[in-house]
Amino acid sequence: MSAVRSRTKCIGILTSGGDCPGLNAAIRGVAKAAVNRFGMKVVGIQDGFRGLVENRTVILDDRNLSGILTVGGTILGTSRDKPHKMIIGGKKMDMTAAAVENLRRHQIECLVCLGGGGTQKNAYHLHTAGSVNVLTMPKTIDNDVAETDITFGFDTAMHIAADAIDRLHTTATSHHRIIVCEIMGHNSGWLALGAGIAGGADVILIPEIPYDPRVVAEHLLARRRSGKRFSIIAVAEGAVSVAEAKAAEGAEKEGAKDKKGKASGEEKPVTGKNEAGEVYHLVQESKASRLARELQRLTGIEARVTSLGHVQRGGIPTPTDRLYSTLLGTRAAELLAEGTYNVMVAIRGQRCEAVPIEKVAGKKKLVPIDHTWVQSARLVGSCLGDQ
Ligand code: F6P
Repeated sequence: MSAVRSRTKCIGILTSGGDCPGLNAAIRGVAKAAVNRFGMKVVGIQDGFRGLVENRTVILDDRNLSGILTVGGTILGTSRDKPHKMIIGGKKMDMTAAAVENLRRHQIECLVCLGGGGTQKNAYHLHTAGSVNVLTMPKTIDNDVAETDITFGFDTAMHIAADAIDRLHTTATSHHRIIVCEIMGHNSGWLALGAGIAGGADVILIPEIPYDPRVVAEHLLARRRSGKRFSIIAVAEGAVSVAEAKAAEGAEKEGAKDKKGKASGEEKPVTGKNEAGEVYHLVQESKASRLARELQRLTGIEARVTSLGHVQRGGIPTPTDRLYSTLLGTRAAELLAEGTYNVMVAIRGQRCEAVPIEKVAGKKKLVPIDHTWVQSARLVGSCLGDQ
């Protein structure tokens, strides 16, 4: 296929934030179309914004773009670094100027950023503070990016979580137990709700609907009284009880809200530092363990815990995610070719549409409490912990 005229000659591409299945399909989609159809040069940037600041790059062409459609993770590597608040030698530094300088060095006219909410914010920052052209695509298993119907990575994670719930059913039935299954999603409940409905969970707890442990316990006991001797609880990692939500609200008012303690209202250390001054996130006690202990105490029924964790982010993307990633990627290449920058390519119905980046940055798409999924879950008899 011969190259079509393009207003953009050279782009950079990076993946940032938590990885998810479908990233490679998206890289392939944008880069294959950009190189083969529009004759652009594509510079892959390694390990997200850190690689940009450290000028670690690789040219993407037919050789390294082949065979990656079905591969999970990201061939470029990723990090959670922010260009304007990067930890270097133990200190938080604003590295925006270094990022901009490296983009100039490679003559990159637009930086394509694949990521979730944090990445949208970082891209917007580079655009406003560094006058850099950016174009973003919404990826995350959490499905919480504003202005898009869906994010790629979500479908695969939902399959994995629903499959786990299916498997937990047989063992929970055999032993007449409660099994609490913790599902990722950060502070949004899309993943737990979707997988919970698809897997037929008896209780689904999401951050948007604070739960009362006594309501949940009564639901479990009622199931037992009706002859159902097991129960599966799908709990989002960010789910909070009514008491925790109130405590967090109070702490917020007092200005005592820390980054991760906000869900519980407790002040907990969330990061550690090694001898080289590198900061890392500390392992936290799972939400599922605390909940299972409490429900066991309230009901007297034996409980077990399964925390799915990063399994949900691994492995082969589903065909749906590969399709979304490719559609978004190729649409991104078309937009770049016509010189449209500073937008996120979003999935809206059957179409991929460009949304101004300022409408996305700093926003979050939570589950509306009257959403069809919530209503449907209630109608099939799942308890959402509030009634
Ligand atoms: O945003 C994706 C996500 O998997 C969230 O669901 C989860 O809270 C977080 O990332 C975990 O991050 P990390 O990989 O840094 O442990």
